[in-house]
Amino acid sequence: MNRELKDLNTRELGRRSVYRECVDSTNSWLKRKGARLPHGTVCWTGCQTDGRGRLGRKWYSGKHESLSISVLFKPLDKTEMLPIICGLAVCQAMNELSDNDFCIKWPNDILCGELKVCGILCESVSGDRGFAVAGIGVNLLQTEETFKREGLTYAGSLHTVSGCAPTLDKTASAIINRLEPLWLTLKNGGLEKLLKQYESKCMTIGREVSVVLPNGDISLKGRAVGIAGDGCLLIDTGGGIVPVNAGQVAVRGPRGYV
Ligand code: BTN
Repeated sequence: MNRELKDLNTRELGRRSVYRECVDSTNSWLKRKGARLPHGTVCWTGCQTDGRGRLGRKWYSGKHESLSISVLFKPLDKTEMLPIICGLAVCQAMNELSDNDFCIKWPNDILCGELKVCGILCESVSGDRGFAVAGIGVNLLQTEETFKREGLTYAGSLHTVSGCAPTLDKTASAIINRLEPLWLTLKNGGLEKLLKQYESKCMTIGREVSVVLPNGDISLKGRAVGIAGDGCLLIDTGGGIVPVNAGQVAVRGPRGYV
């Protein structure tokens, strides 16, 4: 069965879309098929059996309570900045779908208050005809009990944070509609402008943070002061400004997650 994304108003992203009732992971699916699919192809579902998060974590996304969507970008040029524009696009789309205020926790968790409503995982497949996949997971209908049962203490859904429950396809269209103009700005040399927009939505900037390695060790502490041209978070440690790369670390705030 395919389902249309009827609210799309884009020219390149999502013009071809593949809906799956259930799939292992929309990112894995696009990585397997991407070589033969056109730029802008979207794979979306309400049920992943092996959803993946950043830094090797799992992403819980069964039961049609959340949207999982991945977008294919070809060629690889400029796609290293996808985490930044995807964060911005989802933040804008969430603000449009609900009356609440959403912000970004570096690199691209989308928060409402202190609760994470969305996560983003951008991956690439290298080679002559390399491509990138931007994967976005949005919690829509889960309850506080569900998150408690799964041990996700800082997770929220659009339903728990705002009481609203947009459909999967409406949410997917809103995100892609926001992503396309940001992608075109990036492609056309507008990185500076995008970084300014990102910084204005990023709650991490200006905060005291700890940089945490995948094994849980803290590698450094300091004040987050900005985003570098390559997407690294700039941290003032007191002894100098240190760039940290999203591929290897997470940041924690004074109260734990934020
Ligand atoms: C994170 O916060 O750690 C990132 C979560 C990314 C989840 C999305 S859901 C769609 C796509 N498919 C996956 O397997 N992961 C991403």
